[in-house]
Amino acid sequence: MAQKGLNGFFEKYLDETNIFKSKKALQISYTPETILHRDIQINTIAGILAPALREEKPSNLFIYGKTGTGKTLCIKHITNHMLSVAETRGTGLRIIYLNCKMKRIADTEYRLVAQIVKEMGQEIPATGLPTDEVYNIFFKLLEKNKDKITIIILDEIDQLIKKAGDEIIYNLTRINSDLVHTQISLVGISNNLIFTDAIDPRVRSSLSEEEVVFPPYNAPQIQDILKKRAETAFKEGVLEKGLIEKCAAYAAREHGDARRALELLRVAGEIAERKSLSKVRIDHLDEAEEKIEKERILEIVKTQPKQSQVTLLSIILLFEKEEKTCLTGDIYEIYKKLCAKTDLRPLTQRRVSDIIGELDMLGIITATVVSKGRYGRTREIKPNMPHALKQKIKEVLKEEQGLS
Ligand SMILES: Nc1ncnc2c1ncn2[C@@H]1O[C@H](COP(=O)(O)OP(=O)(O)O)[C@@H](O)[C@H]1O
Ligand SMILES: [Mg+2]
Repeated sequence: MAQKGLNGFFEKYLDETNIFKSKKALQISYTPETILHRDIQINTIAGILAPALREEKPSNLFIYGKTGTGKTLCIKHITNHMLSVAETRGTGLRIIYLNCKMKRIADTEYRLVAQIVKEMGQEIPATGLPTDEVYNIFFKLLEKNKDKITIIILDEIDQLIKKAGDEIIYNLTRINSDLVHTQISLVGISNNLIFTDAIDPRVRSSLSEEEVVFPPYNAPQIQDILKKRAETAFKEGVLEKGLIEKCAAYAAREHGDARRALELLRVAGEIAERKSLSKVRIDHLDEAEEKIEKERILEIVKTQPKQSQVTLLSIILLFEKEEKTCLTGDIYEIYKKLCAKTDLRPLTQRRVSDIIGELDMLGIITATVVSKGRYGRTREIKPNMPHALKQKIKEVLKEEQGLS
């Protein structure tokens, strides 16, 4: 940087109108003081779990609703209350919370039970023991805690079942028949509604002794949530009139997702802050939306398997060269060259064609089937993203694959 580049930088930094009072309050992990519009769900769940405080086994409970409808927030709120009451009353109550989305926790039955055991204070090797042995350790730990109820919460349980199958839930619900001094209750939480139809009815009914649904928030409800949070997060008067309403409307457009709404508001604030403005304007919301979408796509690209990344890179490179839609065969030629450069074992064209289909499903590219008359049908493929993002993705992919 040239020396004069710093001229006034620090002064400006210090004088900068600070938009935020507490940006933390807009982070997803932040626990708000009040939970709005969820009284029915909170009271119902509290009623279902309350027997645990009398050392009676609560029914197993299945909670479902789309992302950002407050499921995680509410269950943590309720169980924290229960724990503090249990503590003052000297009741034995144990609550184990696991988020099954976390990597390496819940891709096998072994890992899940090992993680539960770990939460109970005992280390188990990450692999190696027979699964039965892990269960035995789990049983012993449970029994050692005489007359106590253990509530096991499996958040994002759909992720667990997707990876490890549904048998595991059935096994967990059956454990009680082998326990003498103690009982466990299961709480499963799912973001995915369709998932419940896909699991074995036997498993579903063992988990769903009780069910609670979290409906999406409507726009006015999201407004209330945002307003409350904005009071803590922003300095007074920095939000343009109508901004919260618009932000809520955006979030309610797909489904009423409070997480998305909060993120949108935070990013809009950051954009205004970076521009050294003293107000967050409504048009910053559009910019924020674009930025979030860009980050979402980048994240997807980064987490793709190597073969998909190389396929995507081939598409981007070919499209750049030809400036028109590409055909699978041409993509495959580039793909093979890239494989040779990166020491990747090339897949068959058929398999690469499948990967192209997957990338299409993710919305990163578009593949249109066109008829070539008597030559059959083929797919015309092109990247589906703004130019700047394409360049960024190209850089990221080249770096990941060690290509220059
Ligand atoms: N009723 C509510 N009142 C205040 N904040 C909420 C409410 N519902 C959700 N939130 C906030 O929205 C975000 C997403 O909520 P979360 O409980 O993680 O949703 P889910 O688990 O259903 O995906 C969190 O930051 C949470 O604090
Ligand atoms: Mg959640």
